[in-house]
Amino acid sequence: MAIVLDGKKLRDRLLEGLKTKLDGFDKKPTLVVILVGENPASKIYVNNKKKTAEKLGINSVVINYPENVTEKELLNKIEELNNDKEVTAILVQLPLPKHISKENVMNTIIPQKDVDGFTPYNVGKLFSGEEPIVYPCTPKGVLLLLDEYKIDLDGKHAVVVGRSNIVGRPMSQMLLNRNATVTICHSHTKNLAQIIKTADVVVSAVGKNIIEGEMLKSDCVIVDVGIFKDEDGKTRGDVDFESASKTASYISPVPGGVGPMTITSLMLNTVELFEKSSV
Ligand code: GUN
Repeated sequence: MAIVLDGKKLRDRLLEGLKTKLDGFDKKPTLVVILVGENPASKIYVNNKKKTAEKLGINSVVINYPENVTEKELLNKIEELNNDKEVTAILVQLPLPKHISKENVMNTIIPQKDVDGFTPYNVGKLFSGEEPIVYPCTPKGVLLLLDEYKIDLDGKHAVVVGRSNIVGRPMSQMLLNRNATVTICHSHTKNLAQIIKTADVVVSAVGKNIIEGEMLKSDCVIVDVGIFKDEDGKTRGDVDFESASKTASYISPVPGGVGPMTITSLMLNTVELFEKSSV
């Protein structure tokens, strides 16, 4: 039976350490989260971010815009936050409504306040094998979790399923930085099952149940980033936990695996940006 990669336990320990660190600061970081529209999942995520930040003593402001806010108004607000010395971290919750260009939004946030690591400067640094100011939260959380269990990635075949800018693409680069041999699979991949069978490490970020235990190589490591509700309203990941945990050596559960690590990374990034801003 696989060892469970416990994201909650690691989150609790890392956030406790972060709280102690923040308690020693005279001035606290300020994280501003911009939420556009009424996407129910986004609302839950943003609320969790705010609550977690507040527990740590990070100033947290949520700016809520209606779905029909203009791109101009949003960009003006970002400019204002860029110039506000009190604001040390800016996050624009994704997805955005179709009439707003994500590219224009990311081009406007200054890299020094880009707590997601999504602006062109930070993405460019990451994809050049250089250090971005901060690393994207979900892939960073995945590596923190793998490191906690001393899972070595050097020379391993890591298969990333999904090619989003939030998870798949940055994850692939961060695994490459750890000297893994990386394959990126996506909706057009023809022989997914065959590729997964050769994986030492699978990071799946699709949001659909696509991986069963019998598809896996024995003793592989499974990181399940997918999260969605099934027809019965039960929270599920991309991987069938029961069958996969019989074949894998390590597996992250959903919920309780990567989710808590993403929010932990956001808090770590908020503090990193703050520390870099005040030197
Ligand atoms: N939507 C889903 N995940 C994320 C994330 O990590 N950052 C932002 N900004 N939006 C998201």
